[in-house]
Amino acid sequence: MAVDDSVSIDANARLDELVDLATPLGIRAVVNLRVPDQIAAGVHQLDDLAKACDADPATLARLLRYLVHKGVFVEATPGEFSLTGVGELLCDRSGGGRGAYLDLDSLGARTDLALLGLPHAIRTGEPSYAVVHGRDYWSDLDARPEERAYFDELMRSQQLFTAPEVANLYPWSEVGSVTDVGGGSGHLLAELLATHPHLRGTLVDRPEPVATAAGRFAERGVADRATGVVGNFFEALPAGADVYVVSRALTDWNDKNATAILRRCAEAAGPQGRVLVVEVLPTEPFVPHLSSYDLTMLVSVGGRERGLDDHLAMAAGVGLELSASYTGSRGLTLLEFRRR
Ligand SMILES: C[S@@+](CC[C@H](N)C(=O)[O-])C[C@H]1O[C@@H](n2cnc3c(N)ncnc32)[C@H](O)[C@@H]1O
Repeated sequence: MAVDDSVSIDANARLDELVDLATPLGIRAVVNLRVPDQIAAGVHQLDDLAKACDADPATLARLLRYLVHKGVFVEATPGEFSLTGVGELLCDRSGGGRGAYLDLDSLGARTDLALLGLPHAIRTGEPSYAVVHGRDYWSDLDARPEERAYFDELMRSQQLFTAPEVANLYPWSEVGSVTDVGGGSGHLLAELLATHPHLRGTLVDRPEPVATAAGRFAERGVADRATGVVGNFFEALPAGADVYVVSRALTDWNDKNATAILRRCAEAAGPQGRVLVVEVLPTEPFVPHLSSYDLTMLVSVGGRERGLDDHLAMAAGVGLELSASYTGSRGLTLLEFRRR
């Protein structure tokens, strides 16, 4: 078959764009070297930047000029660099900030680099984080307290907008006790207890976040109504709470494991209790392959993106049926389940 040259050239150019690793890794490298932070602090000249970032001036210039071409930096006069809007984002080292996530030494970069093990994940259906980094994601966090602290900050940055909504959307006035399963460093539970002074709460998670949560409960003045329990949500949970919240934790697991967590919640809730799934659901119609997030969840923790129907099906598998749902902003969804 004759090959149409113009199509072939376009396809080649497109493929070059798709497979380029120099741009994503070049950006992560300048973040790692803290070049954007230095520029933001007023260091603009190449030699000064090289000195401040402990870099070789000639090679730093090559990288910066490549990223000028990609729209990260501007070189208005030779050897003098400033930030574009994209470059400015790289200075944000806060919990939810792009700089904090992209730094090659950070958990964010380790998460993305788990994609190097994608063939393993596709062959086995299992995450590849351990293949690439030597131990699974959650054990890695247990072993690296600074990464665990970063992870909890990242979760907190998301809870800053979701927790107040969860506290207001659900009829907590009708609830006496709540258990937050995989509750992390306690931001959501602290918010619930602070907003609803009649409420008592228990948080179940791994040791490090439970310890951090104790500090958060004290900070928010709710420590007398909050209990932290080091536990495993694949095993029996403390029974008897009115509501078992699972907030943004199911998405970390494949269907089998996510269903197992729901089963543990249903068992602990008993016939009278409720299970409240809190997720930021993808928009409808749910098209998982439109974002790379689904694959990143696969390689890092074996998780996946799920739409509403997926949640209903998993819950039905453990004898739970939807009894109410609440919708907040930006996809925040609360699904209340009870035993059928
Ligand atoms: C994505 S975070 C969500 C944290 C919090 N619920 C939130 O909405 O911000 C998932 C949480 O599950 C916890 N986790 C992971 N494996 C667990 C296990 N086997 N038992 C209990 N918690 C676990 C993690 O430590 C983490 O805090």
